[in-house]
Amino acid sequence: MCPADNLFWQTLSINKAERAAIKQQQPGCVWLTGLSGSGKSTIADLLEKRLHAQGRHTYTLEGDNVRHGLNRDLGFSDADRVENIRRVAEVARLMVEAGLIVIVSFISPFRAERAFARSLFEAGEFTEVFVDAPIEECVRRDPKGLSAKALSGQMPNFTGIDSDYEAPEAPEVHLHTADESPSACVEHLLAALE
Ligand code: ADX
Repeated sequence: MCPADNLFWQTLSINKAERAAIKQQQPGCVWLTGLSGSGKSTIADLLEKRLHAQGRHTYTLEGDNVRHGLNRDLGFSDADRVENIRRVAEVARLMVEAGLIVIVSFISPFRAERAFARSLFEAGEFTEVFVDAPIEECVRRDPKGLSAKALSGQMPNFTGIDSDYEAPEAPEVHLHTADESPSACVEHLLAALE
């Protein structure tokens, strides 16, 4: 018997459209994927500031932050990354049900899990954004000093070094952060979200 056998779906009286109408906004999920050091957090932060200034009700789910709480039991094996993304995708869905614009900033290295995340949303609600920078550039930036650790063998399973990153094949938005400033990237992103 599976745990869901004795569960029932409870219908709620207030729906997503009604919750979003109070905020006069279209809820949705902006999903940023890319290597560590590619610029996801910078772009997520700038995007949220811009949306907030427009009076949008937003929330940002950041990989490092969510791993301090909800996902503190997970590491960086492939299986743990799969579970990490499953959970954050479900949380993002709940936030969209609440009427919010949610920005997800996770490496999310595997196509299958990003496809799973997309499958939780209605057409047009999910925007996959490839925050793209060559691994050499991410290693050069190394904002947290983690690439150096990985390259010296002190940290196994580092994405792009000895753990896979499957680049998106057809993202809604493809940002090249080695060639454009964060603010230029966010302008592209805002235009795509309109
Ligand atoms: S994901 O691959 O499971 O999506 P997530 O975005 O939650 O990763 O977390 C990535 C963050 O964890 C990085 O920004 C970095 O600060 C930290 N980190 C620690 N160990 C690793 C590792 N082995 N590979 C990648 N990031 C790591």
